[in-house]
Amino acid sequence: MFEIRQSIERVEKTISNLLLYSRVRPPEFQPVSLPEVIEDALLSLGEEFQQSGIQVKKIFDPALLLLPLDSEQIRRVFLNLFLNALQAMPKGGRLTIETRCCESGAILQRGLIPPDKSFQGKSWAEISVTDTGEGMAPEVLKEIFRPFFTTKAKGTGLGLSLSRQIIEQHHGRIFAESQVGVGTKFILLFPFPSPGEGIAGGEFEPHLHNSMPSP
Ligand SMILES: Nc1ncnc2c1ncn2[C@@H]1O[C@H](COP(=O)(O)OP(=O)(O)OP(=O)(O)O)[C@@H](O)[C@H]1O
Ligand SMILES: [Mg+2]
Repeated sequence: MFEIRQSIERVEKTISNLLLYSRVRPPEFQPVSLPEVIEDALLSLGEEFQQSGIQVKKIFDPALLLLPLDSEQIRRVFLNLFLNALQAMPKGGRLTIETRCCESGAILQRGLIPPDKSFQGKSWAEISVTDTGEGMAPEVLKEIFRPFFTTKAKGTGLGLSLSRQIIEQHHGRIFAESQVGVGTKFILLFPFPSPGEGIAGGEFEPHLHNSMPSP
């Protein structure tokens, strides 16, 4: 009986994620406070973090306050990332969220965006979400954005693909770096245009690295 109920719960979760996935509407851009959206997502998992002995560290760049984002969609992205971090640290650890403002030149130098004219003079919000969890082997890391890819008994494998879809609809980028036994870092980039300018577009594959960068 218990197994049947568990299967039903899993099917229900898959269906609700699938519906969300197929329904990702175009973002409704509003000036959004990044720290507020992040705090909001953190708050809904506060008890779980405490129970698992996870310390949360926030480093917010004061220069990055209002960004053109769909707050509901971006909150969902952070929730997915924080939930994955929580699940990767069952014995506790540290979750670090850092935001900072970067110019295109610096992002280009790190090879995170292609040398595209439309990016010139643009600013980017860079957000990193780093955990000290179990990490991932290279063969897992290269699959994580694929719909339905999961290594979890109760996972749907839609969390990251949904997040990537939302980020790309914001003309942003998502990258992952990981090392088994060390942890995982997700880097999110969102362009913010100067007044009167559109947001830079262009398709771009997420980058995957197997090693954690030096701190
Ligand atoms: N922070 C992380 N640490 C270690 N592995 C991770 C992390 N984030 C994602 N993964 C790996 O990526 C896979 C895909 O993640 P995704 O969020 O898309 O689905 P899921 O977590 O398995 O299922 P769901 O999100 O539906 O609960 C996970 O099953 C896990 O193997
Ligand atoms: Mg997940």
